[in-house]
Amino acid sequence: MTATQLSAPPAPTAAESGRGSYWITTFGCQMNKADSERMAGILESMGYREAQAELEADLVLYNTCTIRDNAEQKVYSYLGRQAQRKRTNPNLTLVVAGCVAQQEGESLLRRVPELDLVMGPQHANRLDVLLAQVEQGQQVVATEEHHILEDITTARRDSKICGWVNVIYGCNERCTYCVVPSVRGKEQSRLPEAIKLEMEGLAAQGFKEITLLGQNIDAYGRDLPGITPEGRRQHTLTDLLQFVHDVEGLERIRFATSHPRYFTERLIDACADLPKVCEHFHIPFQSGDDDVLKAMARGYTVDRYRRIIERIRERMPDASISADVIVAFPGETDAQYRRTLALIEEIGFDQVNTAAYSPRPNTPAADWPNQLSEEVKVERLREINALVERVARERSARYAGRTEQVLVEGINPKDPEQVMGRTRTNRLTFFSGDNGRWQPGDLVDVRIDEVRAFSLSGTAQA
Ligand code: SAH
Ligand code: SF4
Ligand code: F3S
Repeated sequence: MTATQLSAPPAPTAAESGRGSYWITTFGCQMNKADSERMAGILESMGYREAQAELEADLVLYNTCTIRDNAEQKVYSYLGRQAQRKRTNPNLTLVVAGCVAQQEGESLLRRVPELDLVMGPQHANRLDVLLAQVEQGQQVVATEEHHILEDITTARRDSKICGWVNVIYGCNERCTYCVVPSVRGKEQSRLPEAIKLEMEGLAAQGFKEITLLGQNIDAYGRDLPGITPEGRRQHTLTDLLQFVHDVEGLERIRFATSHPRYFTERLIDACADLPKVCEHFHIPFQSGDDDVLKAMARGYTVDRYRRIIERIRERMPDASISADVIVAFPGETDAQYRRTLALIEEIGFDQVNTAAYSPRPNTPAADWPNQLSEEVKVERLREINALVERVARERSARYAGRTEQVLVEGINPKDPEQVMGRTRTNRLTFFSGDNGRWQPGDLVDVRIDEVRAFSLSGTAQA
C-alpha cells in the first residue's frame, strides 16, 4: 500500500486472515449494540476473527456511551488497562468508537496517546476504511458530520433469533439534559425498502423477532420527502410498520424508543391491528411534573402521557408499559419528585429505568445554578427504585396461572436445564428445556407457575 493512494484500498478478502483477533466491548444503548454488531461484521469480512479473551486480542474496540458521567468514566478505566498493554505490545490496535469518541474527539488522543482510532457513531459503517488509514501508520480521528451509508456489510449478530434493525439515526430533539443529539447528529431515516430488505434477510436466516430502533423512533420519516393525497407525511412509523409487517418467517416486531410528544393514535391503532407487533411499549416520561417536563423541554404534559397510556390500554388491555425516568433534575423540588412517584404508581409500569440526573457537556441544564446535591440524588434514586420494583411485582402477579407464548432465545446461563425467552409483553421467562426439546426460535405456550418482579418461570404446555 502506498502513502499516495487516494481512494480507499480494495476490501481485503476473508482469506487474508493474517490480521489476528478482535475484541469488542459495548457500553450503552441498543443503538450502540446494533452498531457493534455491524462493526464486528466488518472486522470479520476483513479477516479478523473473534478473540477468546480481551487481553489476548490484537484489536480492541470500545464502543462507548456518555449518557451519564459514570458511563463515560467506565471507559477511561478500561482504556487505561489497554494503554498499558500497548506499551509492551506495539502491534495492538486500540479503537474507541461511539458516543464518548464523538464527544471528546481529538482530546481523547491527548488523554490516551496510545489510541489508534477515535470514531463517532456516524462512522461505524466505515470501520474498514478508517482501519486502512491506521494500517498506513496514521492516528485517525473520524468525528465529522457524516451521511450514514446504507449498510452493505453483514452484521455479526449476537443472537440468531432476535435482531435489531436501525430505522432512524440521530435525534433532532433538544431535551435540556441530553447529550445524544450532539453525539449522534441529525435525524437520518433509512428508506422503507432498505429496512424491509434487511428484515427479509434476517428472516431468511431464521430470525423470528425484530426490534426496530431509533432514539426517537416516532420521528421516523420526517426527513424523507413525500406527502399523501390526504396531506399527511408519506413516511411515518405507522406506515413503516404496515409496510414491513408481512415479512415471511418473522413472528414478532417491536420498536423503541417512543417519544410521548409524537406518539400518535394512528400508531396505537396500527399496533392493535397488526398481529406481529407485540403489546409492549417503551415510552419514557422522564418526570411526573409539568414544570419539570417544561424545563426538560420535553414538549408534552403529564396529562398527555396519561391519555396515551389510556388509549393503549383501551385497544390492548394487557399491554405492558415501560419507561425511563430521571430524578433530581436541576431544581426538582420534593413535591415535584413525589409527583413522579405518584405517576409510577398510577400507571402501574411493568418496568422503569431510573437514573439520577447527571450534568453532561454541551447541554443547557448542566450550566444551571440549581443543581441538587449528591445526597438528594442517592436518596431519591433509592426510594424510586424500591417503588419501581414493588409496582413491577404487582404487574407480574397478573401472569400467575396464565398461559403465555414464549419465544425461546437460548439456555438459561444460571441453569443449563432451563431455556429462556420472552413473552410478547417482554417479560423474561424461564422453563425446563426438556432435555433439548426446546430450541432457540421455538414459540412455546408456557403456563406461568412463579412470578417475580422482572421475570417469570413456568411449564411448557405441549
Ligand atoms: N431517546 C430516548 C432516551 C435516550 S437516553 C428518549 O427520548 O426518552 C436514555 C435515557 O437516559 C433517557 O430516557 C433518560 O432517562 C436517561 N438520561 C439521558 N440523559 C441523562 C442525564 N443527563 N442524566 C441522567 N439520565 C439521563
Ligand atoms: Fe435525548 Fe430527548 Fe433525543 Fe431522547 S428525545 S435522545 S432524551 S434529546
Ligand atoms: Fe449512550 Fe450514545 Fe446510546 S450516549 S445511551 S450509547 S446514544
